[in-house]
Amino acid sequence: MIHRIIFAIVGCQLAITVLGNDESSHHGEWSYDSDTGPMYWYYDHPQCNGTKQSPINIQENQAIYNDSLTPLLLFNYSTVFNNSNYYLTNNGHTVILGMDSNSSISVGLLWKGKQYNFFGLHFHWGENDTVGSEHLLSNKHFPLEVHIVHYLNDYGNFSNSLNYADGVLVWGIFYQLDNSIDVNNNSLKDVFNNIRNVINAGNKTNILPVPLSSFVPQNSLDSYYHYAGSLTTPECSESVLWIVNQKIMKVSSSQLQAFRLLKGHLHNVSDSVEPEVLTENDRPIQPLNGRKVFTSVPYFTGSSSSSLLTATALYIIFSFVSSVFL
Ligand SMILES: *[C@@H]1O[C@H](CO)[C@@H](O)[C@H](O)[C@H]1NC(C)=O
Ligand SMILES: *[C@@H]1O[C@H](CO)[C@@H](O)[C@H](O)[C@H]1NC(C)=O
Ligand SMILES: *[C@@H]1O[C@H](CO)[C@@H](O)[C@H](O)[C@H]1NC(C)=O
Ligand SMILES: *[C@@H]1O[C@H](CO)[C@@H](O)[C@H](O)[C@H]1NC(C)=O
Ligand SMILES: *[C@@H]1O[C@H](CO)[C@@H](O)[C@H](O)[C@H]1NC(C)=O
Ligand SMILES: *[C@@H]1O[C@H](CO)[C@@H](O)[C@H](O)[C@H]1NC(C)=O
Ligand SMILES: *[C@@H]1O[C@H](CO)[C@@H](O)[C@H](O)[C@H]1NC(C)=O
Ligand SMILES: *[C@@H]1O[C@H](CO)[C@@H](O)[C@H](O)[C@H]1NC(C)=O
Ligand SMILES: *[C@@H]1O[C@H](CO)[C@@H](O)[C@H](O)[C@H]1NC(C)=O
Ligand SMILES: *[C@@H]1O[C@H](CO)[C@@H](O)[C@H](O)[C@H]1NC(C)=O
Repeated sequence: MIHRIIFAIVGCQLAITVLGNDESSHHGEWSYDSDTGPMYWYYDHPQCNGTKQSPINIQENQAIYNDSLTPLLLFNYSTVFNNSNYYLTNNGHTVILGMDSNSSISVGLLWKGKQYNFFGLHFHWGENDTVGSEHLLSNKHFPLEVHIVHYLNDYGNFSNSLNYADGVLVWGIFYQLDNSIDVNNNSLKDVFNNIRNVINAGNKTNILPVPLSSFVPQNSLDSYYHYAGSLTTPECSESVLWIVNQKIMKVSSSQLQAFRLLKGHLHNVSDSVEPEVLTENDRPIQPLNGRKVFTSVPYFTGSSSSSLLTATALYIIFSFVSSVFL
């Protein structure tokens, strides 16, 4: 109770400071730090105080097995669109990988019979190699989490999809530290090498075409967690069906270090105006508020019941089917 009151008072003072300074330049401004950090996002972005927010801590042994969580079916994830323009851009909060194309191209996934189109891919990292992912897995952080953002084809575009509970599907993929990977023989080499070319907010650089499948672990379409949540940045819209991969990718320390050199939007630091340093961009975990987290694969407890064996058999069949589609 005491904590809440103190928080409320501090919060009000900061709101006045933020709005009183220069309303036009501050309005809607947000960051991962100080008086525009995650605790204060809801002043200008009220959905961030909702009850179905992301990220969350995924407690593996509490995830509910749900056999309606069929494998993701990808389309054109492995295709390299040579006539499209692949780029990285720094939007002041993260690095986004996007594609521009003059002809209509179709990349995305089918899930539970619905078509979700690729919208963009971005990264979340932390100030050191022990933190950075937005979701936690049984209280454990990973140093990097990639979000592949899709919108429901039926809703026409991403911004319209934000108005619907099933409008957006974000596929989250954890990356774990592994300094033995060969960073020079890696399909993501050009992506990681170009991060240094988008140091400042607003920078954009073209990269070699890269299939989206490069960001996803092999044979991972059938083993994931699922829950209903939100965007992890303002407006924090509660329109996201989350798919959090159970298989994990690898990243090296040197690749991670490149992200921490990035800079965000300008803000006032004592008497000078400087770019925000983007050493981290991971929103803290949010309360579940009674939401359920589902798993597409039964949690292995060591016991062997016939239903577990059936599920395992189905899982093997799904692995085979989905590996054909990747
Ligand atoms: C945030 O939401 C809770 C209910 O979910 C409400 O009690 C609280 O007043 C809200 N806070 C603000 C600042 O709107
Ligand atoms: C399985 O998940 C769906 C949501 O995707 C939910 O509607 C359904 O109730 C779940 N079934 C069980 C047994 O939890
Ligand atoms: C793009 O170019 C590569 C290398 O030249 C080729 O293997 C691939 O088939 C091309 N992709 C398409 C969709 O034409
Ligand atoms: C699309 O067309 C415009 C104008 O013809 C051209 O400038 C641009 O480079 C093209 N972009 C791609 C990705 O092909
Ligand atoms: C994959 O992309 C090609 C080229 O844009 C397109 O013709 C095809 O329909 C796409 N495949 C699917 C399953 O959408
Ligand atoms: C890593 O950063 C976190 C906070 O972002 C901090 O709590 C922790 O002490 C740091 N760990 C190391 C080894 O520096
Ligand atoms: C997105 O779709 C909505 C609804 O169809 C439409 O009003 C809006 O103009 C579209 N926005 C863009 C950027 O195409
Ligand atoms: C690069 O990696 C691929 C697949 O992991 C491997 O087959 C190939 O031999 C490697 N090339 C070099 C030069 O190490
Ligand atoms: C990156 O952004 C900075 C600051 O806006 C600008 O000065 C610089 O020219 C940009 N560089 C590139 C390659 O776009
Ligand atoms: C910094 O503060 C000054 C004085 O309060 C204000 O005019 C300016 O807009 C602020 N700049 C930024 C980038 O916040």
